[in-house]
Amino acid sequence: MRLDRLLSNSTHLSRKQAKDALKSSRVSVNWVTVSSPEMQVTDNDKVCLDGQELAQKTEHHLMLNKPAGLLTAARDSRAKTVMDLLPPLMAKVKCMPIGRLDKDTEGLLLFTTDGELAHRLLSPKREIEKTYEARVEGRLTQKDVSAFEAGIELSDFTAKPAKMQILSAGEKESLALAIVTEGKFHQVKRMFGSLGHEVLALKRLKFGPLDLDASLAIGQYRELSEDEVRKLKEAVGLV
Ligand code: URA
Repeated sequence: MRLDRLLSNSTHLSRKQAKDALKSSRVSVNWVTVSSPEMQVTDNDKVCLDGQELAQKTEHHLMLNKPAGLLTAARDSRAKTVMDLLPPLMAKVKCMPIGRLDKDTEGLLLFTTDGELAHRLLSPKREIEKTYEARVEGRLTQKDVSAFEAGIELSDFTAKPAKMQILSAGEKESLALAIVTEGKFHQVKRMFGSLGHEVLALKRLKFGPLDLDASLAIGQYRELSEDEVRKLKEAVGLV
């Protein structure tokens, strides 16, 4: 792997900052100070930044502000997937999406290398809340809020009671927050759809204890902070 890439993968430095660190003689490979970002290094090389050996990080937890138009899948032979927005290292270390968002849904998508954490966050019995902003056809009313509260019967299952808050209601369109604890296929779209309000746009704002970072542009990702990882693990009894 190129040295500048290794530096940005293993530290909080961006690729540009990694190049600057190399220029400023802060990096050594096998005890020799180096400055070339293109230098190829392997797992057997001892790479130090400011005299500290880089810990080869094996655990990764990310949040992505998913754009519409990408599949949530590890790979697809034809379509672009969310993995295309992450560094290739993430596919290599199996840092995988936690659950799915539809192709046309935007917003908070989490990734982890921790299979047990993902499994617990998705387990229906843990009832982890997911919050979506939905722009829907027609005027939402208190009747729709009550229907969400009661649980909505769909053709193949009854959606558990959920919360819905109307943010604005117009004759043609309304905007609402929906908070659901399940993650069935097209669940939120189907719940609104069954009440006669087709979903025009859907964005996930929150997953369990984590909010979508408002500073992440659409298509951008970042590593979760230690505090965010702890909150996720606490939510599912892993700490
Ligand atoms: N519910 C949906 O209908 N679609 C999503 O992408 C997520 C939840």
